[in-house]
This record gives sequence, structure tokens and C-alpha cells, in this order.
Amino acid sequence: MKATVNEASPTTVSGKPLLEVLDGGVRKRPPIWLMRQAGRYLPEYRDLRARAGSFLNLCYTPALAAEVTLQPIRRFGFDAAILFSDILVVPDALGQEVRFEEGEGPRLSPVLDVDGVMRIGPLDLDRLAPVFETIDRVKGALPRETAFIGFCGAPWTVASYMIAGQGTRDLEPVRLFAYRHPEAFAMLMDKLVEASVDYLCAQWRAGVEAVQIFDSWAGLAPSDQFDAWCVRPVARMIDALRARAPGLRIIAFPREAGSNLKRFADVATPDGLGLGVSEDIGEARRIVGGASVLQGNLDPLALLAGGRSLDASVARILQAFEGSRHIFNLGHGILPTTPVEHVERLMKLVRG
Ligand code: CP3
Repeated sequence: MKATVNEASPTTVSGKPLLEVLDGGVRKRPPIWLMRQAGRYLPEYRDLRARAGSFLNLCYTPALAAEVTLQPIRRFGFDAAILFSDILVVPDALGQEVRFEEGEGPRLSPVLDVDGVMRIGPLDLDRLAPVFETIDRVKGALPRETAFIGFCGAPWTVASYMIAGQGTRDLEPVRLFAYRHPEAFAMLMDKLVEASVDYLCAQWRAGVEAVQIFDSWAGLAPSDQFDAWCVRPVARMIDALRARAPGLRIIAFPREAGSNLKRFADVATPDGLGLGVSEDIGEARRIVGGASVLQGNLDPLALLAGGRSLDASVARILQAFEGSRHIFNLGHGILPTTPVEHVERLMKLVRG
């Protein structure tokens, strides 16, 4: 695809810088959004969160979820809004019990054995109807130049929570399960591929223009299983989405895939590829060539710290991506203790 450089005008064919880059353009200043941009670092989020009851109630109440989606757009004017929801609404709609414990993170009734896998699904799209209503509300309220991103978790990352019943350091439970019960694990992954595609197609019908597939724990898959557990499930999702949701742009984020990034890019062929904090930009550019847009990869701790090291990190990233198709983002989600002034500073640095 021929790249077009758009140096001066903020308005483009789609009128949305983020979509322009995903569609093949290069901009002098990259579009910017931040993973987890709606969340606890924002006082207006904490206020609303305190009134919403449970976290899942917030996700499933369209007026509130739409408001939270729009908060960071109003405050900072990011180039994209990301739907406010969570990757764990998919297990919830597959019939697994999901709760968010205050200060502890997610708790699910763990899938312990082959029978547990058999009981999973089918996906109850009606349960997710509030998510689609949220999308409908947000799309009518976004500034013209702001793109709208939907999302889900990749099968590997979602399965890790479903099997362990919570977040774990090394993903031991899911890895053990996959070795002990390879057929059941493959069945669970198949169910997640199918459910995730149905879910993202429904988000697309409701009005998102791009989606991000979060494989937050890709870097913890053993190298000899990376293909089976990370690459192929996401590749199958992307193939199905291209057939069923024409025009939908797809960003994949196989976080910290490292030396497996090339394999991932070649086989899954997302429109955009997110880089984790430790990934080398020059190396990643060599690997994907001009074929894919790269997104990332500021260290969330550099943003939290602010000051001269933030300025220097941002300058290094802008320099390393110069002349290439780049979406500025963090290398993982923004941390709850990040001062909002540091995000304002980041916007100044990136926008110039
Ligand atoms: O602004 C956005 O990016 C949109 C909203 C969003 C949330 N979660 C809201 C949320 C998105 C895109 C996610 C993705 C998500 N959720 C991932 C993938 C990205 C990543 O960070 O690796 C994962 C692994 C989850 C699962 C999850 N949800 C965990 C482990 C936790 C607890 C830890 C934490 O950060 O609090 C959550 C809760 C959660 N999801 C919160 C938010 C704003 C905090 C809950 C609260 O406000 O009480």
C-alpha cells in the first residue's frame, strides 16, 4: 500500500488521524491514545466509579460506561476513544461467574477440568447488549476527528483468567492445564475464538471503527507453544473478522512477544501491532517492514514519573518511529497513580 504523508492538515479523507494511519498514511505527528485511558488516574472516573456500585455494573450501565469512555476525550483530546468495558465480560457472557473484588482485581469461578470446559458457553449476546448500547451512545457524542476503538482479550489471555480464576504471576495454572488436558484446552480456545469474533462483530455493527485484541500475557507463553496458543487463535479471529466485518481495522497487542513478533505479524497480519515496553522499535520496524502500523511503546512508569525522563523517553520514541506509520501509545496500561499533568505534558510533547 502506498503511504501518503499528511504534514499540515489535521483533516483527512476519514477526517480521523488514527484511521488514516491504519489505512496506510504516515503523519508527521503520530495520532495518540493510551491503553486504559479511562480509569482510576482520573478524578472524574473515581467520582463516577464510587457511585456506580460494582465494576461490572459500571460496564453494563450504558449511560455510565459512555460517560467514562468520553471523560479522557474531553480532558485530553486523544485521537481515539476506547470503549469502556473489560476483557472479562466475555467469560461472564459465556456463563462463568465473574466478580471484581475491591482492591484485589478479578475473581472468576475457575475452570478446573474437562467438564468445566464443556460447561462454558454458548455466548449470551443479550447479556452484552448494554455494551452495544454504550457504543451507540458514544459514537453520537464523539468529536468528528476522534476514532472509536472496541476491544476484547485474546483467547490466551482470557483463558489464563478463566482457568486460574484470577490474575497470576507466571500463568502457571493455564500452562499446566494446557499440558495436562490438551484437547480440552484446544476446545476452550476454539470457544473463545468463536465468542470473541461474534462479540467484536457485534461491536462493529454497533459502531466501532477499529478494534484492539489484547494479548497482555503473550510474553508468558512458552516459545514452542507461541504459535498454537497466541498466533493461530488471533490469526483465526482476524481472518473471520475480515470476512464478517469489512472495513474494521484490527490492532493486535501480543505484549512482549519479543523474538516471536515476526511470526505473529506474518501469520496474523493485523493492520496495527502494539509493542510492549521492552520491545526495540528499530528491530520491530525491520521485522514488519511497511506492512503493519506499529503502536506504542512508552513505559507507563516513565509517564508516572514525569519530568525530564518523560521528555527524553517521548523524544526517543518519536525519533525511532520517524517517517513510519506509528500510533503513539504506552507499552501497557496507564497506572492509577499517574498524575494527570503528566498526561497533559505527554500530549504537548507528541502534538508538538
Ligand atoms: O480505558 C480503557 O482502556 C478501556 C477500559 C479497559 C478496562 N480494562 C477497564 C478496567 C480495558 C481496555 C481493559 C482491558 C483489560 N482488562 C486487560 C487487558 C489490558 C491490560 O491491562 O493488560 C486485562 C488483562 C483486564 C482484566 C482486568 N480488569 C484486571 C486484571 C483488572 C484489575 C486490575 C486493575 O487494573 O484494576 C481489571 C479491572 C479494570 N478494568 C479497571 C478498569 C478501569 C479497574 C477497576 C475499578 O475501577 O475498580
